[in-house]
Amino acid sequence: MAGTKKVALITGANKGLGLEIARQLGREGVTVVIGARDIAKGQTAANTLQAEGLDAHAVKIDVTSAEDIAALPAFFATKFGGLDILINNAGVMKEREGEVNAETLRSTFEANVIGPFAVTQALLPLLKASLAGRIVNHSSILGSLTVNSAPDQISTEWLAPAYNSSKAALNMLTIIQARQLADTKIKVNAAHPGWVKTDLGTDAAPMETPDGAKTAVRLALLPEDGPSGGYFHMNDTLPW
Ligand SMILES: NC(=O)c1ccc[n+]([C@@H]2O[C@H](COP(=O)([O-])OP(=O)(O)OC[C@H]3O[C@@H](n4cnc5c(N)ncnc54)[C@H](OP(=O)(O)O)[C@@H]3O)[C@@H](O)[C@H]2O)c1
Repeated sequence: MAGTKKVALITGANKGLGLEIARQLGREGVTVVIGARDIAKGQTAANTLQAEGLDAHAVKIDVTSAEDIAALPAFFATKFGGLDILINNAGVMKEREGEVNAETLRSTFEANVIGPFAVTQALLPLLKASLAGRIVNHSSILGSLTVNSAPDQISTEWLAPAYNSSKAALNMLTIIQARQLADTKIKVNAAHPGWVKTDLGTDAAPMETPDGAKTAVRLALLPEDGPSGGYFHMNDTLPW
């Protein structure tokens, strides 16, 4: 357990949904740690939240770097005495960059699947020691096998091979981790934020980040009798 205040790590939190999730958790009294692969950008984001009166910090974490990940447990144990909440938020969508080839799939899976798996594995001992360990995997409705297989629910332009299959894999990890951790206090859930205006979501998206962050924040602060192993948007359960 990390002291009296809860401590959260949000990966990819220097901008977009991650930054807004950090802001909203900070407003709930959580000590938030902005994970950023560029530590200067992470520190700038932490400074912004500090200026808003929030307890915000930054740590360098590229989720594809084994070295960065290996340094995390000692960082949280030493600086904060533990970790209560992990939001695996960092993610990429490379389909817009051009032709999708094997390398697109490989690098997308590195960031969206293997990264979250490795970060979770490294921080599990600290999360197990928390009285209310919570893991939120930032997924997408585009990871739903049900939705991708229903032509009336998704048009072909949204069938992004690398992104959608990486989020489906992240959903599978969510199910497996929740079952493997069922005899602990940890809850693991997948969140779909909605289609949100960010660099990834583009300006065409209908939602703003304050609403987009709500699902992950709710799952990060679930009470003891809350769900584990689910896939949610706001309060709605989504089909795998
Ligand atoms: N926006 C949407 O409509 C939407 C919908 C469904 C799901 N999501 C999910 O929500 C999450 C956040 O997306 P967003 O919309 O906020 O996108 P964003 O504004 O593009 O932010 C993505 C964040 O991830 C970071 N990142 C990318 N690769 C990384 C790596 N290897 N290591 C560490 N950080 C890395 C980026 O860092 P840099 O600044 O250094 O690039 C950035 O901080 C993603 O997982 C995304 O799939 C978004």
